Amino acid sequence: MKHQMLTKCTTAALAFAALLSGSTLWAQTETPLPQLVEQDGRHALLVDGKPYLVLGGQSSNSSTWPKMLPGVWQVVEEMHANTLEIPVYWEQIEAEPGKYDFSIVQLLLDQARERDVRLILLWFATWKNGSNHYMPEWMKLQPKKYPNITGKDGKPVDSPSPHATATMEADAKAFTELMKYLKEADPQHTVIMVQVENEPGSWGSVRDYSKEAQRLFNQPVSDALLRSAAMKELGATGKSGDTWTEVFGENADEYFHAWSVASYIEYVAAAGKAVNPLPLYVNVALRDPLTNPAPTSYESGGPTDNVIPIWKAAAPSICLLAPDIYLQGDERVLKVIELYARQDNALLVPETSSDRVKYLYEIIGKGIGYAPFGIDAPDKVAARQHAPLAAEYKLLAPMARQLAQWNFEGRIFTAVELENKSEQTIDLGKWEAVLQFGPGHTMGQSPDQKPRPADGKAMIVRLGDNEFLAIGTHCRFTFRPTGKDAGKAWQYLKVEEGYYENDEFQFVRVLNGDQTDWDGPYIGDEPTLLHITLTTR
Ligand code: DGJ
Repeated sequence: MKHQMLTKCTTAALAFAALLSGSTLWAQTETPLPQLVEQDGRHALLVDGKPYLVLGGQSSNSSTWPKMLPGVWQVVEEMHANTLEIPVYWEQIEAEPGKYDFSIVQLLLDQARERDVRLILLWFATWKNGSNHYMPEWMKLQPKKYPNITGKDGKPVDSPSPHATATMEADAKAFTELMKYLKEADPQHTVIMVQVENEPGSWGSVRDYSKEAQRLFNQPVSDALLRSAAMKELGATGKSGDTWTEVFGENADEYFHAWSVASYIEYVAAAGKAVNPLPLYVNVALRDPLTNPAPTSYESGGPTDNVIPIWKAAAPSICLLAPDIYLQGDERVLKVIELYARQDNALLVPETSSDRVKYLYEIIGKGIGYAPFGIDAPDKVAARQHAPLAAEYKLLAPMARQLAQWNFEGRIFTAVELENKSEQTIDLGKWEAVLQFGPGHTMGQSPDQKPRPADGKAMIVRLGDNEFLAIGTHCRFTFRPTGKDAGKAWQYLKVEEGYYENDEFQFVRVLNGDQTDWDGPYIGDEPTLLHITLTTR
C-alpha cells in the first residue's frame, strides 16, 4: 500500500499530482511556493511546482558582502551549480536594534536572478557552529540579557543559552522580518529554502548548567515529548510528571539540551513561517554514527543522529535536518546518509568537503540535494578543487529536473566503490546490473596501473523494463537477466552515449565493438551518460 506521511512541511504526493494536473488553487499561482512532498519514503523539493534537484555550492562564511560576491558568482558559474547557499548575518541586517537593512538580501536576489541561479539562505543568528558570534554587537555587549550557557564546572561556555527568552524573541523578530522581506521582494521564489541558525548546539558542555537551566532540568519532561513518537524510537518510557533524569537516565543532560535548542529554534522558525512558509531546515554538526561517542566529544544539543526523534517532536516547522558531511570513511558516510534519509526527513547535504564527489550520486539518489562548503575559498579556487564536481554538475545540471522526478518515482539506483570491493550488483527488476569499479580498459589499451583511490561511482535510472540510463566514473556496467529469464543469453540492443539539453537526450555516438564487447561499457575519469537497451536471446 502506498504510504504518505503528512507533516507541517511535507505535502502528500496526491496533492502534488493534483497540482501537476492543474486542479488545485496552487496551480493557478504563477510561481507556487517551494515545498517538500513525500511518498513511500521518497521526497521531492518542488520549485516552480516541479521536483528540483539542488546541485549546489556553499560560500565561505564571510562572503555575503557586496565586494565579495563577484568571486562567489564566478565559482558558481565555473561549477555549473544551480543553487547557491549563502549566509545572511543577523549582525549585518540588524546592526542597530529594531532597524533592519535588507539591501544585501536584495543584491543577492538581483544577482541570482541575472544568473538564473536559485538561493538557499543561511540564517546565521543565535547559533553559528554552536556559538553566538553572529549576534549583533549591541547584543554581545549585554551578556546578562543575552546570556551564554554555564558549564558543569560553573565556568562560562562560548555558546548561547537556549533558555534565554530575550535572545529567542529578538531572533524570532529579526528572522520574521527577513521572511517578510522575502515575501515582498521575492514573489518568483529565487530563494527556495532557508536554513535556520547554523550547526546549533554547544561545544564544551553537554548542556546549560546555569541556575535557571538547572531549575528547568529538574522540572517534568514536557508532555508533548512524552506523547510523541520519539519515545518509542528512543526506547524510553515515562509518565506525565516524571523528570528528565527519571525518563532518560544517563542521556538526560543531552536530551534536555536537544529539546531546549530544538524548541527555541521551533519558536524562531514558526514565527518566520507564519509570514512566509518557505521550507526551513537545520544543519547538523555530526557525531560519529558508528561508535555512540560521549556527548562531550561532539556538539551536544544539535540534531545528531541519536536525537533526531527529539528534534522531530520539538520542531515541526523545521522540514528537515541536514547533515554536514565532513566525516571520513565509506562506512561512516554511508551510515550518515542512511540515518538522515528517513521517511520523515528528506536528505539534503548542505555542506561537505570538496573531496567527497564520490558520494554525489548516492546523495542524489536518496535525497534532494548536495553542496560542498566554501566554494570561493581562495585556496580551493587556486587549487581548482571544484573541478571534479564541476564536470559532474556540467553533465547533471541540464537533467536535474528529470533526475529529481525520477528519484521521486523510485527509478534511481546508485552504488559507490568500496575499499576492497571492486564489484557490486544492483537489482533492477528484470535485470541485475553488475558494476565493476576500478581502472578499466578496452581492447587494445592496457589498464591504467597507477594506484588510485577507491572513488568509482555509478547511477542507473530505470526508464523501462529493458531501458536504462547509466552515469558513472571508474565503472564498468554489465547486466544479467533475472527471474524467469535468469541464465538466458542476452546482449546490448544499443548503447548510446549522450548528454541532456533542453530536457532531451542528445545523441553523441553508439558504443559498440571494443567499447562494449569486453564485459560492457566502461566510464573512466570523465562522468559520462549512456542510454542502454538490453534484450535476451
Ligand atoms: C561547518 C559550518 O556549518 C560552516 O559554516 C563552516 O564553519 C564549516 N564548518 C567550516 O569547516
